[in-house]
Amino acid sequence: MKLIIVRNKEELGARAGGMIAEAINAKPDIALGLATGSTPIPVYRELIRLYEKGELDFSRVRTVNLDEYIGLPANHPQSYRCFMDKNLFDHINIDKSNTYVPDGMAQNPVAECARYDAVIDRLGGVGLQLLGIGPNGHIGFNEPADAFSERTLAVRLAEATITANARFFDKPADVPERAISMGVGDIMNAKKIVLVAGPEKREIVDMAMNGAVTPNIPASVLQNHRDVTVFIIRE
Ligand code: PGA
Repeated sequence: MKLIIVRNKEELGARAGGMIAEAINAKPDIALGLATGSTPIPVYRELIRLYEKGELDFSRVRTVNLDEYIGLPANHPQSYRCFMDKNLFDHINIDKSNTYVPDGMAQNPVAECARYDAVIDRLGGVGLQLLGIGPNGHIGFNEPADAFSERTLAVRLAEATITANARFFDKPADVPERAISMGVGDIMNAKKIVLVAGPEKREIVDMAMNGAVTPNIPASVLQNHRDVTVFIIRE
């Protein structure tokens, strides 16, 4: 794993966004694995900036998001579909029918997981996966567990995640308790991985990169991937 320490959000956006732009230019129909959360926002801003400058074309790009809350409709302001539209898709020339986010309102979440796996397979897997990291080391919504998950699954969110995400909702009780997430196996299948983290994640990033590989710290599995770049903002 390669660690790059950046000074601030702007540098994070420029460098991580630059890596993604390079991957799109190398393969214009790339399948990008995308993430939500605060840290990716400057990355998306950079992609929008490059598109506006005429340096990036999303017309053939496909995207597959890591996760979605169960119980939030696509038009809910805190749904991850809504987040992606607002922070990226509405500002670039992507064909929205090529953008995939799990359906949090699916009647049968297990069937939805199988459908999402089929989407990932149809795309030929993920070319570049953007990741955040949770305060407990989660990637996607793969929370600390006894074993690493393989494919898309319905999960119960950890208390630490509900607490961390409560800032986006009116009250903590409004945070959904369940989600659909791509599995750790799906993430590990990506050809290239770019993980972005704020200064408050320094300790967990250090544990994930330098500690034991354990499903108790899901991001530690990335030590077994051959092409991971971690960007962290210096305090
Ligand atoms: P953050 O979320 O970028 O908002 O810190 C990361 C995550 O929980 O995966």
